[in-house]
This record gives sequence, C-alpha cells and structure tokens, in this order.
Amino acid sequence: MRLRNGLPVRPRNGLPVRPRSDLPVRPRNDPAQYDDLADHWWDPRGGFAALHWIAAARARLVPDATRSGSLLLDLACGGGLLAPHVAAKGHRHVGLDLSATALAHARAHGLLVVRGDVLRLPFPDAVADVVVAGEVLEHVARPLDLVAEACRVLRPGGTLVLDTIAATWWGRFSSVTVAERLPAGPPRRLHDPALFVDRSALVAGARACGVELTLAGLRPSAVDYLRWLVGRKAEVRMLPTRSTAGLFQAHGRKT
Ligand SMILES: C[S@@+](CC[C@H](N)C(=O)[O-])C[C@H]1O[C@@H](n2cnc3c(N)ncnc32)[C@H](O)[C@@H]1O
Repeated sequence: MRLRNGLPVRPRNGLPVRPRSDLPVRPRNDPAQYDDLADHWWDPRGGFAALHWIAAARARLVPDATRSGSLLLDLACGGGLLAPHVAAKGHRHVGLDLSATALAHARAHGLLVVRGDVLRLPFPDAVADVVVAGEVLEHVARPLDLVAEACRVLRPGGTLVLDTIAATWWGRFSSVTVAERLPAGPPRRLHDPALFVDRSALVAGARACGVELTLAGLRPSAVDYLRWLVGRKAEVRMLPTRSTAGLFQAHGRKT
C-alpha cells in the first residue's frame, strides 16, 4: 500500500475523494480535524476542494499593491490556498493560523507564516494594506473580536476581505445538511452551525471599527460542479448571488 505522511493513500482515478472514514470522529469544529486532513489541503479533488474555488473568488476582492512593501495578512490561512491567486498582485503574503500542519503547507507554497490566534493577532496596529479572513469567522466563538483585530492591524485606506456562512436556516441546510454529504463539500463535522455568522452584527461590528462592508452571496456554478464531479473540469467557478443567506463574501475599506 502506498503511504503519504505515514498514512495509507486511497487509490485515485481522477474522481473526487472524501476524507477517509477511518479518521477519528471528533466533535464539531474541533481544530484537530485540520491535522487529520493535512494531506488534503492541496489536493484539488480532496476534502478541501471547495476551499480552492472560494479562494479564487476571494482573490478577486484583493486589490493590487499600491506601494512597495505592501502587506497582505491572510488570517487563518490554512494551507495557503490563496497564494496562487494573489501572487501577481504585488503584496508580501503573510499567513497566520493555529494549525502547524496547515502552516507547513502554506510555507511550502510561498507564504511567510506565523502561528497564532486570529483573536489576538501578534501584529502592531495599522501595518497591513489588505487583511483577508476566509472561511474562519464561522469557526470562532467571538467573530466580532476577529473583525476588531483585523481592523486594528489594517492601515487607513486598507481593504478588509471576509467570507463565511450566514446564521440562517439556509446557511445550515446548504453548508451542513447538504454540503457535508457531497464530494467537495466540507468534511463531516468541520462546521458547528451554532457558530455561523449574524450578518447584521458583522456589518455593525465592522462599521464600529471604521470599515463599511459590502456583502454578496456566493454559490458554485452547477454546470461546473457536474463537470468537476465526472473529472471533466479542474475547478468550479463560484458565482455571485443576490442572497447572502448562505455562503457570502464581505469587503470594505478602512476610513
Ligand atoms: C476552513 S479553514 C480555512 C482556511 C483558509 N482560510 C482557506 O479558505 O483555505 C479554517 C482555518 O481556520 C484555522 N483556525 C480556526 N480557528 C483559528 C483561530 N482561533 N486562530 C487561527 N486560526 C484558526 C484552522 O486551523 C483552519 O486552517
């Protein structure tokens, strides 16, 4: 049997792979899941496949650098999936995450990495030109503290980019009930719907820190997804939607 990181690798035929069923069963939102799934980060058909597509959509909201030495802080960067999508934008890309295994992948893909907690950033005030926090607000108990920290480290005029899941029945149904059962959906038990994000509170929290957020919904292209499922397409486009009741993006500039 072929081994990777000391673990058996399932035979592959180009079709999507769900995480192995013999992984430990952990409580919802247990951060140890990212270590269990460490070898999935950069597998475009593995358990984090949809994060690749969302990273491409997130990068569209990241502006080009306007000065030399421009700093892009990628909070909860995971395996660094944003890297290829922002490489040409001219920023120094620094990633922060709690997971050492994720950071090892991020470093291997060109990020400067820092191990730390998004709720207590080890950075001074007003250092970053862009702060992104993708798919993490729904994993922390105090998302507005994350927003406050993100705004603190952002320079005036800098851009904040977020994406997360709304605290609605649709957010729970689409991202947990349905998506956890689909190839490319989040691995089982990755999300705790009790932590999904109240959009009004998010907008008010960012406004209090000087960032007026614009929200937009996001969904996978159904055609791309079907073609991806049968191995005919490498990536799935994430399309804008009017409704922000499920997966959504938010961005704004600090005054
Ligand atoms: C769903 S992944 C998203 C990773 C990356 N942003 C992406 O979209 O590919 C969530 C990430 O948040 C990290 N994380 C969760 N809580 C954190 C915290 N309090 N501080 C730092 N990182 C955290 C996890 O280790 C994991 O890498």
